[in-house]
Amino acid sequence: MHSHVLAGIDDGPRSTEGSLELLRAAAAAGITTLMATPHVSSRYRNDTATIAAAAGELERARGEREAGVEVRVGAEVAVTRVAELEPEELAGLCLGDGPWLLVEPPFSGMLGGIDATIAGLHRLGHRVLLAHPERCPAFHRDPALLESLIDAGVLASLTSGSLVGRFGSQARRLALGLLDAGLAHNVASDAHDAVHRPPSIAAELAETGRAGLEDWLTREVPAAILGGGEIPRRPASATPPPSSRRPSWLRRRG
Ligand SMILES: [Fe+2]
Repeated sequence: MHSHVLAGIDDGPRSTEGSLELLRAAAAAGITTLMATPHVSSRYRNDTATIAAAAGELERARGEREAGVEVRVGAEVAVTRVAELEPEELAGLCLGDGPWLLVEPPFSGMLGGIDATIAGLHRLGHRVLLAHPERCPAFHRDPALLESLIDAGVLASLTSGSLVGRFGSQARRLALGLLDAGLAHNVASDAHDAVHRPPSIAAELAETGRAGLEDWLTREVPAAILGGGEIPRRPASATPPPSSRRPSWLRRRG
């Protein structure tokens, strides 16, 4: 649901060969569909045209060795840029055929206004998949804000590397807490290359020792998002989470 596989338009691969390497690594990791979600931010000012051009370039370059992975195109839209984008442009940045946008919260500073921005997207008919909330310091400080966004219909997409500590202990703690509390709906690689930030999900999920959610997190929910259909219920076998695993901030909230 989240990768930077397109070359030369953000902090993903610089060359088409890098994109092809990433695709081959994805195939080796058992990934069959990769969402290309280039940054649309104040730093990387992509739009539907630059993204379509880069996707076309990759499509023309790929061959037999990369045939096993389908690439679909969306975007990772920084919450701070949403207000600057016309409704038609926002519609063109959606994930697959449905109303879902992958929205990136800021990594620094405050989250002031994120709830209003998301409410505005809802009014336009969009739904929001929030990219790696567990890596956002403001949610470390105030996980209840994240919970209120999820109550309002937002879904949370964790980065697989967060589950195993690649983004620090706080991100790991919040990622696992969200997973155990039923507040995470997807795990994605957020791959940027074949090696350092690779397209790997299953290995990280397995390392957490939590079983029973893999298909729902990585196949069923993504398929519903891409198709614009109803989000399937979390498997009953995985809910409710064992009380020993309930994160302390949820216990505090009763
Ligand atoms: Fe990303």
